[in-house]
Amino acid sequence: MRQFALILLGAITALLASVSVADTETAGVLEDPLVKANVNIYDKVSKQRGAKLFVNYCMGCHSLQYQRYGRLGEDLGIPEDIVLENLNFVSDRIGDTMQNAMDKKDAAEWFGATPPDLTMVARLRSPDWLYSYLIGFYEDASRPYGYNNKIFPLVGMPHVLADLEEELGDEKFREAMLDLTNFLVYTAEPIQETRRKIGFGVLFFLLILLIPAYLLKREYWKDVK
Ligand code: HEC
Repeated sequence: MRQFALILLGAITALLASVSVADTETAGVLEDPLVKANVNIYDKVSKQRGAKLFVNYCMGCHSLQYQRYGRLGEDLGIPEDIVLENLNFVSDRIGDTMQNAMDKKDAAEWFGATPPDLTMVARLRSPDWLYSYLIGFYEDASRPYGYNNKIFPLVGMPHVLADLEEELGDEKFREAMLDLTNFLVYTAEPIQETRRKIGFGVLFFLLILLIPAYLLKREYWKDVK
């Protein structure tokens, strides 16, 4: 018994030591430059605000080629006529994907890089990366459009939200960028909300199933001994 207690004590000490080593490592050498994006994927209103920001400020250059207007309206609870009137400036059909009219060659010439499609960007990069990028623009006179980015050095994209940032102030601007991130987290996996709800439902079902399964096991094994 004493031996066992000693082993247990040793294991706990080793565990604590490894945790504190890991802590100092991340604090010293590998400081994470990304800001955490605390998006709430169940917050429809936040995603609606994000969608509005996207079509107004981003769609001139970036498409969402795998996202349809109709699906967007359904998932975010926006009626079809409002989608057509306020979000779809490019075509007049609800079933269309969210494309834009920018010529890829022209864009490459203007910005030094083609603006990539952003449907999947939240999964390609990560929500934290995306949020940090959106709040990461800073003035840099050596760049063609006067701005650089903390997360994406020498980025070709101009700081298209500079006016909005000035108008809203730091805190409100961050909230707006969180909405925009939330919207792009949605387009990267529109089924996510449903998937998570089903996941919890399944776990709950299995938990309940445990009760009859346990009783059944007891019944089967009671004569075997
Ligand atoms: C004037 C055109 C233009 C507008 C408007 C614009 N972008 Fe960009 N964006 C670009 C270009 C060009 C790049 C490519 C930059 C590079 O590779 O250097 C880019 C890159 C990006 C990237 C990095 C993608 C990656 O994974 O490399 C993200 C994310 C992004 N833009 C988001 C946005 C969002 C969100 C908006 C709306 C607020 C927006 N952009 C508006 C031109 C634009």
